[in-house]
Amino acid sequence: MSDPTCVLVTRRLPDGGTDPLHEAALTVVQREEDDPYDHAELVALAPTVDGIVCLLTDRIDREVLAAGAAGRLRVVANVAVGYDNIDVDAATELGVAVCNTPGVLDETTADLAFALILAASRRCSEAERDLRAGRWVGWGVNQYLGHDVHGATLGLVGYGRIGRAVARRAAGFGMRVLHHTRHDTGEAGWVADLHDLLATADVVSLHVPLTPHTQHLIGAAELARMRRSAVLVNTSRGPVVDEAALAAALTEGRIFAAGLDVFEHEPQVHPDLLQAPHTVLLPHIGSATHATRTRMARLACSGVVAVLAGHRPPNLVTA
Ligand code: DGY
Repeated sequence: MSDPTCVLVTRRLPDGGTDPLHEAALTVVQREEDDPYDHAELVALAPTVDGIVCLLTDRIDREVLAAGAAGRLRVVANVAVGYDNIDVDAATELGVAVCNTPGVLDETTADLAFALILAASRRCSEAERDLRAGRWVGWGVNQYLGHDVHGATLGLVGYGRIGRAVARRAAGFGMRVLHHTRHDTGEAGWVADLHDLLATADVVSLHVPLTPHTQHLIGAAELARMRRSAVLVNTSRGPVVDEAALAAALTEGRIFAAGLDVFEHEPQVHPDLLQAPHTVLLPHIGSATHATRTRMARLACSGVVAVLAGHRPPNLVTA
């Protein structure tokens, strides 16, 4: 009898998340506890399974993929739309398919981006921290003054599904919406030069994947182009922003506020950012709703099922 087809699921997924694997009668290899596998364990397990369902916190590099491909590994699916934790070039070379979770988290992530736009512009975190710490001494006409979101100009860097979902929300707030992408979208509001967009926007929201081109896309030079009253929001990937430069810009009052859901070295947060004024800092919760996380898990698992059945899933990243 041949070995059963096995899929390693690196962490506990939301209830129902692994249903597609069970429905396809695949054998799920998973720890009882929700402990991450370390890199050496992933290298050791990769050749023993046909598929891996992983999280963005798992580093699926060439070593893991080469070990897997030397065994029976055929597909890796990330329970995330971003896949910078996976060496896609190596996977392509080694014939391992890679899947992600596009489309199912756009609205949820856009909700959170908008929450950050509002919270950072209106200094919600700082005001709440003061209230909880007993520092609020009563209403004051000059207290916690922020900037209006309604009627402001929103500059979207990246204009994919999530950026567009943020634009739809902005329309409801009467915002003027501009977007910058490297290639002309041919749509109203496209700004060719990133620096022009940064100089014009009251709120800048980042919606680009992490690639060599977008690493530190927002650094000291870009922050210097932004308005002193501007708010920067990042729900994409931490390394898109140079955190040290951002903390300096906030501390020196060169931009007004930042709302961040992602960080350069998660779960570490740059100590200067923790000290910087007017910051709303969240622990990478952009897609964290019950419904969305379940949809993401199912989509990743469905991609694995499809590849192992010899089909081409719609969420395939590799060619
Ligand atoms: C993603 O999917 O890439 C997010 O960062 C987590 O939802």
